[in-house]
Amino acid sequence: MFKSKKKLCILGIETSCDETAVALMDTIEGLIAHKVFSQVSLHNKYGGVVPELASRDHIKKLLPLIDDLLKSQDFKLGDLDAIAYTAGPGLAGALLVGSVIANGLAFSLEIPAIPVHHMEAHLLAPLIEGKYSEMPFIALLVSGGHTLLVQVNERGSYTLLGKTLDDAAGEAFDKGAKLLGLGYPGGPAIAELAQSGDSETYHFPRLMMKEKHNLNFSFSGLKTALMYKVKGLKNKELLTDKTKADLALAYEKAIVDSLVQKTELAVNLTGIQSVIIAGGVGANNKLRNSMRQKLAEKDVKVSYPSVEFCTDNAAMIALTGLFNYQKGMHNIDYKIEVHPRWSIDKIDQRFHGINDG
Ligand code: KG4
Ligand code: ZN
Repeated sequence: MFKSKKKLCILGIETSCDETAVALMDTIEGLIAHKVFSQVSLHNKYGGVVPELASRDHIKKLLPLIDDLLKSQDFKLGDLDAIAYTAGPGLAGALLVGSVIANGLAFSLEIPAIPVHHMEAHLLAPLIEGKYSEMPFIALLVSGGHTLLVQVNERGSYTLLGKTLDDAAGEAFDKGAKLLGLGYPGGPAIAELAQSGDSETYHFPRLMMKEKHNLNFSFSGLKTALMYKVKGLKNKELLTDKTKADLALAYEKAIVDSLVQKTELAVNLTGIQSVIIAGGVGANNKLRNSMRQKLAEKDVKVSYPSVEFCTDNAAMIALTGLFNYQKGMHNIDYKIEVHPRWSIDKIDQRFHGINDG
């Protein structure tokens, strides 16, 4: 998978949102070990991620987590050849923690620091386990902050086919869960409740499905539809556990159907016969099954990473960091940089001074 003959060992650091994650990988063995500390319990009571709390917690957790990881494998900082970190997109303060620590450690060890694009890392995550589609393929990248359909021509060459015009799919799950009085993150909470729901009781709209050449998504109307439904049922004192489960199922199905239909449309429009699903929402079983079922009819191959590599992790950052390293895309001036908004089709522009606030 990696071109280098010499063994290169890398530490990956992920702090773009509410997971502090670290990983060790080398070019011979692949993934050696990884650790994820989730801040879920910190943000749960707010029904979403509070950026300031996220940054403060990354500061507390990151160095001890790196220490734990290295000790667990009998590694020393001196064994590292490079350090990769998520430089964007994500929460500015949270990204800064990873960038400062990665660049600081790399500077003191006199090794390169390698900035990584978080969504590219999600897209390459199936490679951690050797699962990969032949190129070109279509990637559905679905996370808390992004919903993208990307045509992967070759590694590093990405064409953006479609994106959400408002809420991301994960955001739709999280906001829907909040309306139903469930915890954060909303995706797993809705999926679990939906298991006891009745599929015939409610139906929510699938938005932007009629436009046959448009690969963009929209989820905010769906959230509004759920809000009115919940309000109406509450007023009539009919919002029981049973109706909540029925609503959760109808809501989950509407999100999954939209994602599957647009991916199918992307397959039809491009003629590409291979699809990967990645990002936190890619952990959703209905999405995985429904995509496989629907696209199997067209002989399209569908792959996705294991759940642990679908949601935020640093193994994908280490992997993408190694590829970047081999392409010479690294930082030896130790400039602390973050790109909170960084489009996946503009990855290379980082090396020519993008200015994205
Ligand atoms: O990729 P990710 O871990 O973090 C970001 O980069 O945003 O994605 C987090 C998102 C959250 O919105 C969460 O609700 C959603 O992924 N998610 C799920 C499931 N597991 C996580 N959504 C639906 N079903 C799941 N099983
Ligand atoms: Zn992510």
